[in-house]
Amino acid sequence: MTEPRRLLVTGGTGFIGKVLCRRLVQCGYKVTVLTRKRSAALKALPLPGIDFVESLDELGVNELWFGVVNLAGQPLDSGRWNRERKVEFRDSRINLTKTLVSWMGELDQSPEVFVSASATGWYGHWHDELLDEGSRYNTGYAQRLCADWERAARDGLPKFCRGCQLRIGIVLGPHGGPLSAMLTPARFGLGGAMGTGVQWWSWIQIEDLVRLICFLLEEDTIEGAVNGTAPNPERQKDFAKILGGVLGRPAIVPLPGFLASLVLGEFADEILLKGQRVVPARALAAGFTFDYPELRGALEATIDVPR
Ligand SMILES: NC(=O)c1ccc[n+]([C@@H]2O[C@H](COP(=O)([O-])OP(=O)(O)OC[C@H]3O[C@@H](n4cnc5c(N)ncnc54)[C@H](OP(=O)(O)O)[C@@H]3O)[C@@H](O)[C@H]2O)c1
Repeated sequence: MTEPRRLLVTGGTGFIGKVLCRRLVQCGYKVTVLTRKRSAALKALPLPGIDFVESLDELGVNELWFGVVNLAGQPLDSGRWNRERKVEFRDSRINLTKTLVSWMGELDQSPEVFVSASATGWYGHWHDELLDEGSRYNTGYAQRLCADWERAARDGLPKFCRGCQLRIGIVLGPHGGPLSAMLTPARFGLGGAMGTGVQWWSWIQIEDLVRLICFLLEEDTIEGAVNGTAPNPERQKDFAKILGGVLGRPAIVPLPGFLASLVLGEFADEILLKGQRVVPARALAAGFTFDYPELRGALEATIDVPR
């Protein structure tokens, strides 16, 4: 009998990571999660077949790894973006990614594949331009964070390790993530346009994202930046309208841009009030198919709506 292939996952206890780890175990991988706190991780992911380590030093250099999936990162919506928080955003992404890449280089045999998270923020802010992996970027805080994060995942990667930097959009899942924050106001009919509402939101249903990560692990023709978004982004005001329709609540009360900026600061200015219209050109070209290409279907599959 062949040994199961081993994967190291960071951020495995998070909103995306928990769904991913379950899927990886179902697919027959042997998963080890690198976490800051093993006891909390055991509670977050009470699954047989998953090991937890708190440091890469716990792993021997002669152990054989098929791949590494890197999802760790201090959440960007964890309060106002002050100086300390920005240091945490960078440390938890860029420094951790550099440490991982250097650890891979020290192994007797390097992993075959490294899938590392990034975000659609890599493109910066745009109006209506369709953005694929060949598009240019506009600079800004989130853009620089993503660009440095991707560079850390690329530079110094062992020669025979295939690297994919996954530019993830707004992930729609039932337990946590951005949708959870939108649901309460939307259920009270308060989920209207934010600012002008014409900004594009590029989104992806969590099951599609997790399937895409599994696809990237196995599809050895694909390398470099890959957009992790559904093929049909929506303007924020249309997103709000479709969400209201799924909930059976009209999305009528707008959130003025100045108020969002006042309350949420740079997070509102960088993430909510401006956006980018991103399409998953490389995933589609490589043959990946989305179960949820349209927003309405994705929301209906995600939200538990009493009928
Ligand atoms: N969710 C989205 O819509 C979305 C969109 C675009 C990009 N992304 C990116 O995708 C990745 C996963 O997203 P997610 O929503 O699953 O994130 P999440 O739920 O916040 O989980 C991220 C994980 O990262 C680890 N982590 C958190 N703060 C850390 C810190 N200060 N230092 C080191 N590790 C830390 C935690 O693992 P331990 O507690 O086990 O250490 C946590 O479980 C993130 O890097 C995020 O930026 C997410």
